[in-house]
Amino acid sequence: MNAAVAQQTQPALDELARLFADRFTTSTGVRDHHSKDESWHHPHRPDAVVFPNTTEEVSLIVQVCAKYRVPVVAYGTGTSLEGNCVPEHGGVVVDLERMNQVLRVSTDDLDATVQARVTRKQLNEYIKDTGLFFPVDPGADASIGGMAATRASGTNAVRYGTMRENVLALTVVLADGRIIRTSRRARKSAAGYDLTRLFVGSEGTLGIITEVTVRLYGVPEVMGAAVCSFDTLEGAVNTVIQTIQLGIPIARIELLDEVQMGAVNNYSKLDYPVKNTLFLEFHGTEAGVKEQAEMVQSIANENTGGTFQWTTKEEERRRLWQARHDVTWASKSLRPGCSIWATDVCVPISRLAECILESKKDLQESFLIAPLVGHVGDGNFHLGFLINRDDPKEIAEAERLNERLVMRALAMDGTCTGEHGIGLGKMKFLTAEHGDAVAVMRQIKIALDPLNIMNPGKIFSV
Ligand code: LAC
Ligand code: ZN
Repeated sequence: MNAAVAQQTQPALDELARLFADRFTTSTGVRDHHSKDESWHHPHRPDAVVFPNTTEEVSLIVQVCAKYRVPVVAYGTGTSLEGNCVPEHGGVVVDLERMNQVLRVSTDDLDATVQARVTRKQLNEYIKDTGLFFPVDPGADASIGGMAATRASGTNAVRYGTMRENVLALTVVLADGRIIRTSRRARKSAAGYDLTRLFVGSEGTLGIITEVTVRLYGVPEVMGAAVCSFDTLEGAVNTVIQTIQLGIPIARIELLDEVQMGAVNNYSKLDYPVKNTLFLEFHGTEAGVKEQAEMVQSIANENTGGTFQWTTKEEERRRLWQARHDVTWASKSLRPGCSIWATDVCVPISRLAECILESKKDLQESFLIAPLVGHVGDGNFHLGFLINRDDPKEIAEAERLNERLVMRALAMDGTCTGEHGIGLGKMKFLTAEHGDAVAVMRQIKIALDPLNIMNPGKIFSV
């Protein structure tokens, strides 16, 4: 915090209690609920939680927090994976739960504007009769505001892009309470600095996103999903690399190593071979899907892959992707009571096999278990260390493996996080990745949030 002016938490809470009445609480239960995300990071309780209805009310909360120098942290669904929304320095959590309205949909322009707490499934349900859909799918039914704040992606990004490509405009409450809209809805613009991209991925450290305008896409005529097992991990990864290099417009291409497949079969009651496996999905016309699938099948055959097991029925397709989305729970069931340290790196596609195979070798030499799963079409994969987070020996080992993984990815000109963000977990790698550019980020942070009240203690130190 700014050393010159002391934080005065109690007067801030008193003022917010007066303004928000029963939409303000200091109850232990509610504070506990807002003390954590879905990561292994230790919880930290906020001092209070407020539930605004409008952007103007968010602005009011931020103004009160600014007046008394109190940290303010936005909360959507709490599904982040690097401690991104943990109120590390206490203060006030702004739970956007009530800001859950779809504000407008344009089938002519293929876009929609939603309040920040609309979840991706909620938006897709809302527009299901329009023939359009919102593709970004991080697995969890996350809020679209939270997804913008963490620059989320997931299984569909290889075809449709991440939040970086799919957010057209944002309404943001700044650290002094000002409300700005970062862009119009035009598909392209050369007007000034790209503030939309600045706030996408800023993890609540520059302002609170209250409205998001996103791109929508026509629902494809045919969506076919397939599962393909491989004799070798290298074969599976090389199939991915060649598919991308050939420009086959695959919609999803997910790798699950044999450890992950064992867990998934068990948890989701499936009976695929316990081998390194690709889950694939093709979108297009019937002829297009057939052509793409045949091309990928022939690449797989040259790389120790078996025959595609197709799931074209909607129900089976959903079951397959549900199983993929449930990998965290599947992994946890391998070691009841454990926490999952889900780490995440991304490398240029040509380096993916090397990165995965070297990382896998590290795991084989370690006493920790860590299933591997990933959005490999983007060069992005996760290791989920199964840890007892209270055992220093296990933490030290996960830290060691994680550091080796990140340094390996950086040496390949990759990134320390493809999609989970920096939050608390990747802070120490930011300088290794960005060097002097971190100083520029810090200047931007100080310019926009001079009191350091917006989600303090995240991304980098100020
Ligand atoms: C997933 C999360 C860990 O891909 O990002 O399942
Ligand atoms: Zn992921």
